[in-house]
Amino acid sequence: VTELGRSGSDEWEALLSAERLADLIRDGDAAHDVSHMHRTWKNALAIHAGEGYVADLEIVRPAVFLHDLVSLPKNDRRRSTASRKSADQAVFLLRKHGFPSAKLCAVHHAIVAHSQSANVRPETLEARIVQDADRLDALGTVGLARAFFVAGTIGQLLFSTGAKIVSAENRIAPPTAMDHINMQLYRLARDMTTATGRRIATERLKPMSRYLSELAAELDGSDLSQVFAVDPRAVPNRRC
Ligand SMILES: [Fe+2]
Repeated sequence: VTELGRSGSDEWEALLSAERLADLIRDGDAAHDVSHMHRTWKNALAIHAGEGYVADLEIVRPAVFLHDLVSLPKNDRRRSTASRKSADQAVFLLRKHGFPSAKLCAVHHAIVAHSQSANVRPETLEARIVQDADRLDALGTVGLARAFFVAGTIGQLLFSTGAKIVSAENRIAPPTAMDHINMQLYRLARDMTTATGRRIATERLKPMSRYLSELAAELDGSDLSQVFAVDPRAVPNRRC
């Protein structure tokens, strides 16, 4: 196995090619397309380096490229099951294509645990890297672009029109795109599981915070709270 987690001529390698992935991944979802897999892999390599090059990339790499085989919309009540379905499908495909069987469980766990809505704690370094790498792609300028795309697909408002929603107990998605971004700001950096992931996340929060401040200034003077409909602390983790 090389430094990049490639083991050479194995058939399962072909599964991770851009062409095969494009066939496997849901059409029309620009927030979870092949470019998301490539950015997540780049993030994973940066975390792997920052954490001392001790993770098994032969587990991290297939988990990264196959983690969103099943991706359900943010407002779909079955969303919490998506990462387990992705993991089952990934293991089925990897086994069929000759992936080392001793590592299948580790890949399965990393895929299940990557999702915030699954609420499964990542138990291995490889799973923590996959989770942090995926979450980093929800931050920074790319994270903003993805948030607006997702908002468009589920018919969210861009920002609060004034009516405040105090209780969010039964809500399965933030009410507006800006609330989603605010929750990413509030939670994702806090919930990073590696020191390197946290460091990169902290950098990526800066353009997001700047964006929200600029937006508030443009809309209403400078009161940032007017932009949001919910307090991110009021929304249970498992629901978003
Ligand atoms: Fe993802």
